[in-house]
Amino acid sequence: MTDVQASTAPSLTVRDNRTGQEYELPITDGTIKAADLGKIRADDDEPGLAVYDPGFVNTASCRSAVTYIDGDKGILEYRGYPIEQLAEKSTFLEVAYLLIYGQLPDKTQYDEWVHHITYHTFVHENVRSFMQGFRYDAHPMGMLMASVGALSTFYPESRDISDMHNREIQIIRMIAKMPTLGAWAFRHAQGKPYIYPDNDLSYTANFLSMLFKMSEQKYDADERLVKALDVLFILHADHEQNCSTNAVRSVGSSQVDPYSAVAAGIAALFGPLHGGANEAVLRMLRRIGSLENVPAFIDGVKAGNERLMGFGHRVYKNYDPRAKIIKKATEDVFEVTGVNPLLKIAQELEKIALEDDYFVSRRLYPNVDFYSGLIYEALQFPPEMFTVLFAIGRTPGWLSQWLELTEDKEQKIARPKQIYTGDRSLTFTPREERWA
Ligand code: CMC
Repeated sequence: MTDVQASTAPSLTVRDNRTGQEYELPITDGTIKAADLGKIRADDDEPGLAVYDPGFVNTASCRSAVTYIDGDKGILEYRGYPIEQLAEKSTFLEVAYLLIYGQLPDKTQYDEWVHHITYHTFVHENVRSFMQGFRYDAHPMGMLMASVGALSTFYPESRDISDMHNREIQIIRMIAKMPTLGAWAFRHAQGKPYIYPDNDLSYTANFLSMLFKMSEQKYDADERLVKALDVLFILHADHEQNCSTNAVRSVGSSQVDPYSAVAAGIAALFGPLHGGANEAVLRMLRRIGSLENVPAFIDGVKAGNERLMGFGHRVYKNYDPRAKIIKKATEDVFEVTGVNPLLKIAQELEKIALEDDYFVSRRLYPNVDFYSGLIYEALQFPPEMFTVLFAIGRTPGWLSQWLELTEDKEQKIARPKQIYTGDRSLTFTPREERWA
């Protein structure tokens, strides 16, 4: 318990009206420590004051140097580099290196990194048999989640998370194997043979080969499609403390191996509120069907009958910077695949919404999901695969956040408080007496 003292350091003065006591809580980095609030108590037998924050909407759970977001200004940076520059000039593997190591690689580091990732794309043959055991209609996200979790049994040494070298090799393995597992989950649903990785190809071209190769000697994907998918991976590579990253950190805080922690992240991403909005955008565009129906649809949204999917964001109150980049990638992809007629409807919706006071006053702008589903569809992915693509892109982000967690001395096992609302001190009556 601290009485208020004159101080020049930033602080918050709190008066507890139950006791009349005042407290001065230091403010650091725009936050107060929840533990400092815990010192505020009505009397010694009472628990200290806590904050109630379902969904952690106003609670910082960690210090992180990975990703910076300014939602009001529409800024997204990985390790200080703007997403626009990375999407235009970098590659997914270089961005993955940046996220994991915190700085851009020199030539030797880059070559070694790409070499290591390329030569860890194969999985143990038993992983293949394991995947083949799934039902014919298994959802590819369920297969991915289970297979990544299963990898922890193939690499038992991964449980030693105190060893930096060991952590590094698991990170390489996971980034490398994720496309193999994702592609095999895709082939499984189609009853097609699983295709082994091709080490002559780039990360993303190899993924396309494992997805689409049939009897040809070599799968030769159009470079523009490879680039577009690579850009989509970059855009999804990290997004600070979102639901799945929080899941990775929370599970990782028990010091479990990274495969198990990332499997938890995949589970979180599987949920429709997190990874599934682009599929909902496609359904919405199909339902609207033609340009003439757009005004009536917008009226329905404004009347509160439904939402304009792919618009609005918890953090971005400006154009989601990723949406702008995706819009450009959409044009590149359609140059190769031909234009999806749904694009015209999407463009018209965007045009109307950006001028309409309903959307402008609520600061609703297109988010990352508004155009991504159109690209994925053009690349021949069924909707169930959209979240798998998200997971492949997000893996370096999950792992860089996990790495940061393991090196952060302030972190503890995640264990939020609760407000207990149930009964207390009831007396148990045995079944024979209760049912008599
Ligand atoms: N269409 C119509 N109205 C909307 C929409 C929308 N898409 N989004 C928000 N609003 C309205 C909402 O009705 C409310 O209006 P009022 O003040 O009159 O009640 C106001 O805007 C604020 O909405 P909110 O629900 O409090 O905002 P939120 O920050 O809780 O929700 C959101 C964010 C993303 C869940 C929401 O905008 C939404 O449901 N969007 C559509 C689904 C979508 O595209 N999700 C993908 C998000 S991006 C994924 C990622 O970053 O990984």
